Amino acid sequence: MLNKELIQSDHYCGENAQKLEFEKIFSKGWFFAAMESDFPENNSYVTLDIFSYPVVIQNFKNDLRAFQNICPHRFNKIQTKARGTGIFMCNYHNWSFDKEGKPKTIPQKASFDTESEEFKCLKVKSLRLEKVGKFIFVSLNDEVEPIEKHLGSFYDKLIEISNALDFNFYFNDDLQNINWKIIVENVVEAYHCPAIHQNTLYGMGFCRIPETNNEYENGHSVADYPKEENAVPDNKILKYLENIEFKHNTFRHYFIFPNLLISSTQGTSIYIGNILPATSEKSILRKRFYSPKFADNFEPRKAVHTSFLEMAKTSINQILEEDKDVLEQIQKNIPFINDTYFIGNQEIRIAHFHKKYLETIK
Ligand code: FES
Ligand SMILES: [Fe+2]
Repeated sequence: MLNKELIQSDHYCGENAQKLEFEKIFSKGWFFAAMESDFPENNSYVTLDIFSYPVVIQNFKNDLRAFQNICPHRFNKIQTKARGTGIFMCNYHNWSFDKEGKPKTIPQKASFDTESEEFKCLKVKSLRLEKVGKFIFVSLNDEVEPIEKHLGSFYDKLIEISNALDFNFYFNDDLQNINWKIIVENVVEAYHCPAIHQNTLYGMGFCRIPETNNEYENGHSVADYPKEENAVPDNKILKYLENIEFKHNTFRHYFIFPNLLISSTQGTSIYIGNILPATSEKSILRKRFYSPKFADNFEPRKAVHTSFLEMAKTSINQILEEDKDVLEQIQKNIPFINDTYFIGNQEIRIAHFHKKYLETIK
């Protein structure tokens, strides 16, 4: 039985918690930053902020590079949209940069002392980037441990999930008044589903019987939440979904420490959640939904598949909204508490997350 040593409530608000987590967790280790599908063409990019630290990942002719998203000239933000396509150029004075971060073009270059040592050192700060299947991780630390070591046996699971993903059909940033850890805790337990997801997940037949296939490593975890047979009649219209490659008769949920959430509803649609902590009381939940790959070149009828994906989009978003309402309440309450949670065996993945967190911030 796991020792239930849990995080104290004062780690969920205030500047001290934020500083400590930025230093010990998000600056030292790996965090999940993007998906391969965000970079369909030359010059596509993604930006993200981790506690205000600006990060950009840019595609240079299929070579993905991560940088601090700050121009070395007078410190403007270089790429400004969450996701887009555009050359790696700062729009304050139009300096552009190459894939090493060095200035490439500078308007009226002759007005600068380009022979000076300062100019020679001038570059956008590069960050470490690793691709694991279709998942892209970044670290602010040049001396970070190898990604294989960080992920352990979850490395192969990410490759397996990557192989199951077809195209990205939804991308959205949702600003939530919630500490990033509360978002994690909520998704690693299904104990709340019969109460708040009565008409969604629970209504679909999940979370009625105990979770199975739990695995834990280095703060990461996965569990299957089986579907109760005969709980809901099979939907005949969705017969074509039997041709998917990644089949499991469960709602499966993965958490990759510290900020990647993946859930698969019987393999029919896959949700990839990227938690971007903004302050200790606010986070952006970056949502990406994927269509699954089909086996043996099976092609579903486009109209049927499109309407299924539309339904999946509405359903996942509804589940996430049901969670958000409660989690924002918890965040409001937490400053008045000076204690830890009281959790049961169905919430044991929370204890694993807390254990890793407490070891990391030491
Ligand atoms: S601040 Fe970026 S070009 Fe001047
Ligand atoms: Fe939930």
